[in-house]
Amino acid sequence: MIRQGALAALLGLAPLAWSEEPAPPYPQGAESFQANCAVCHGPAGAGVPSLAPPLLTYPAHYAASAEGRRQLAMTVLYGLFGEITVEGARYDFKMPEFSRIDDATLAATLNFVIFALGHAPDAVKPLGAEEIAAVRGQNLDGAAVREHRKALLPQPGS
Ligand code: HEC
Repeated sequence: MIRQGALAALLGLAPLAWSEEPAPPYPQGAESFQANCAVCHGPAGAGVPSLAPPLLTYPAHYAASAEGRRQLAMTVLYGLFGEITVEGARYDFKMPEFSRIDDATLAATLNFVIFALGHAPDAVKPLGAEEIAAVRGQNLDGAAVREHRKALLPQPGS
C-alpha cells in the first residue's frame, strides 16, 4: 500500500517541471527537496493521502514563531512518528530523520518548503543554518518531536 502510494505520487506528479516557471527561490533547497522529500510529500509538496501530509500551509505557519522554527528543525533532524492531523486529515506513519544532511542544506530545504511551497509572507525570516545546528545532538526521536508539535497548533491532539 505504502509503496503504491509513493509510486503513484512519483508517476502522477513527477512531470511537473520548473522549466516554464521562473527559477524557484532557494535553488539548493529545491534540489534537496526533490532528492530527499518529494518521494513522500510529492514534488510540489501537496502530500499523499494517508501516506505523507501536505507541506503547503503548516510549515509556513510554524516559521512565524520561535518554537515553530525549532519544530521544523526537529522534524528533519529526528523525524516524526505517531498520529497527527494536518489540514483536517489524519496521518499516522513515520517520517525518517535526515541528520546526515548538513545544516545549511537542511535550512535551504526548509526555506524552499516555507517560501516556495508555503508562500510565507516577507516578514518571516528565512531559517539559518545556525537554527538547525542549535537543535542537533539532543537525543530526541520522532515521538518526542510529535509531543513538541502539540504545543504549536490550535486543535488539541493534532
Ligand atoms: C518516507 C517518507 C517521507 C520522506 C522521505 C519525508 N517525509 Fe516528511 N513526513 C512524512 C510523514 C509520514 C510525515 C507525518 C508523520 C506522522 O504521521 O507522524 C511527515 C511530516 C513532515 C513534516 C511535519 C508537518 C507538520 O504539519 O507538522 C514536515 C515539515 C516534513 N515532513 C518535511 C519533510 C522534508 C523537508 C523532507 C525532506 C528532507 C521530508 N519531510 C521527507 C514522510 C516523509
